[in-house]
Amino acid sequence: MKIVITGGCGYIGSHIARALRLQNSKNEVFVIDRERREHTLGNAAGYLHTDFASKSSLMWITELEPDVVVHCAADTMVGESVTDPAKYYWNNISKTETLMTHLKDLKRKPLVLFSSSASVYGNPVGGQAVVETDLKLPISPYGVSKHVVERMLSDYFDAYQMPSVSFRYFNAAGAGIADQIDLGQAAGASHIIARILEAKLANKTFTLNGTDYATPDGTCIRDYVHVWDIARAHLQAIDWVFNKGNYCAAAMNLGTGTGISNQQIINYVREKYGDFLVDTGPRRPGDPDRLVARADVARAIIGWTPEHSTLEQIVDSAWKWYSRV
Ligand SMILES: NC(=O)c1ccc[n+]([C@@H]2O[C@H](COP(=O)([O-])OP(=O)(O)OC[C@H]3O[C@@H](n4cnc5c(N)ncnc54)[C@H](O)[C@@H]3O)[C@@H](O)[C@H]2O)c1
Repeated sequence: MKIVITGGCGYIGSHIARALRLQNSKNEVFVIDRERREHTLGNAAGYLHTDFASKSSLMWITELEPDVVVHCAADTMVGESVTDPAKYYWNNISKTETLMTHLKDLKRKPLVLFSSSASVYGNPVGGQAVVETDLKLPISPYGVSKHVVERMLSDYFDAYQMPSVSFRYFNAAGAGIADQIDLGQAAGASHIIARILEAKLANKTFTLNGTDYATPDGTCIRDYVHVWDIARAHLQAIDWVFNKGNYCAAAMNLGTGTGISNQQIINYVREKYGDFLVDTGPRRPGDPDRLVARADVARAIIGWTPEHSTLEQIVDSAWKWYSRV
């Protein structure tokens, strides 16, 4: 398999690159990323550090003739997308259209695996775990951008027979697995587990955003999925398409069905790693109360179930990464 990963120097993309390499040393992985993050290098056969929609990227893809393009590159901050939507419509939608239109005109159309997001569902009412057929009412420009690209991929399959799988990741967290402590998220990530562990290790105060959500302890509830489980899903989807002949445009949740509140994470870190200072701040714009997924479709179709995604597995692996010497 020849696989191009856009955003492959990012958190999730670098884990997918690693998983593909470990799965089969004959997999040839190529990364396009405008950033160069040293700790992510070494997982691919080639790197191009530029914009994924640039001429040089598109030419490189033409030359490589990939079987698969994993499209992880995007701007990813929900709050920022509310205050600067233009950035998100441009990077996440317009440039993705440039990429997809280029791919559909290639001699051999690759399978596209797209990093979509739980944010396509917006703020689901009723608090039950979301399923794929639920209404998609994104409440941030970031969520809209993921929803539009999913639709684009579905239309591109109908019209141009370009197969794709959109994975609606819920909250990716954790790092590496087992003894691999060389791969994790870059410093300064905005999600809560990263912020708690970084604050704790630096002896700084952690700010808990929002304690007045409509949840039992007042803090946001999210569905955390270990980044390694997310990476595994991409491998399983490639098998499902190429070895089992499922050429279509599919979309599926990657979640655990278990909601964990921000307060529960704080409590776990305190119990396991010791106390740290917490103060409370305002809600972040665009943050729903509770977002938890059922992943029945991923289970039924590609045979995916989370294996590394308990709170303990996630926090402990992230702790190893953040506290490495
Ligand atoms: N982390 C999560 O919990 C989560 C949840 C749902 C969806 N996602 C999606 O998964 C994908 C990966 O997320 P991540 O957490 O690894 O983010 P990340 O920021 O670590 O990685 C994204 C990478 O894309 C690169 N990039 C962005 N725009 C680019 C461009 N125009 N050209 C080239 N490179 C570009 C960035 O440099 C970065 O390395 C994103 O599409 C994100 O929206 C992430």
